[in-house]
Amino acid sequence: MNKISEILSTFFAYLKRPDLYPELRRKIWKNLFNRSSGLRGKEEAEKWCSSIAISEKDFIEKVLNTSFIPFEKLFPKEFAEALQLQAKAPVKLGGAGSLSVIYYINEYTNAKKTVETGVAYGWSSFAALASLVNRNGTLYSSDMPYILQNHSEDFVGCVIPQKYRNNWDLYRFADKESLPKIFSKVDSFDVVHYDSDKSYDGRIWAYNLLFSKVREGGIFMSDDIGDNAAFKDFCETKGIKPYVVEFDGKYAGLIIKD
Ligand SMILES: C[S@@+](CC[C@H](N)C(=O)[O-])C[C@H]1O[C@@H](n2cnc3c(N)ncnc32)[C@H](O)[C@@H]1O
Repeated sequence: MNKISEILSTFFAYLKRPDLYPELRRKIWKNLFNRSSGLRGKEEAEKWCSSIAISEKDFIEKVLNTSFIPFEKLFPKEFAEALQLQAKAPVKLGGAGSLSVIYYINEYTNAKKTVETGVAYGWSSFAALASLVNRNGTLYSSDMPYILQNHSEDFVGCVIPQKYRNNWDLYRFADKESLPKIFSKVDSFDVVHYDSDKSYDGRIWAYNLLFSKVREGGIFMSDDIGDNAAFKDFCETKGIKPYVVEFDGKYAGLIIKD
């Protein structure tokens, strides 16, 4: 698909979805006036991340003071089934980060209320729910459909085991619409995991809002913080010393809120 036909297909796909019109307006504005937001400060962000990064094992053992068993070894049967479900899905959705870190931060905070942005196949949701169900907690998720792939919505969260689904509350809108709906139900969270709009401006908007909803002692996590300088700038502006975890050549940022 060339660029023009991709733009037109995206536009007409949005037109069929009135619930996503607010996001369509924002996308048009961004493409006209703010195209550089995705990679703003990428080079400095990557340098900063690599200078302070630790492994997921070190984060879990030295910061969370828990012995580290990789997520796939803790839940081998569910994990193998999830891999099969992903392989059967006819659509290509976004990839996962460190499932072990997500699982252990929910354990560390004894989480009962967790919010995440960005679900795709549902790997991060699976990891959070594997912990939350032990306390009958709830995962609130926000995910905007992949607009160009027919039926992609049927596969959002497809790897999440059925036995966890009663503890899952999914909002299928852009974050700017989903998050206010979620916050009208719950206003404070043990864990926040950000993995959706990766633009600089999208992150800064969401980080400020989501961080204010983390309870004292709770944990804020963002994936892919080397993409641009949003996480670094957010921490520096607020005087926060975060943890940076390297996983699969990418970086996740974590803040334990005091
Ligand atoms: C990287 S994937 C999420 C991967 C997931 N956390 C996992 O571990 O498997 C990003 C997801 O965020 C969604 N997304 C992108 N921009 C969004 C926005 N503004 N609001 C809500 N969801 C968005 C995409 O449609 C996609 O499903």
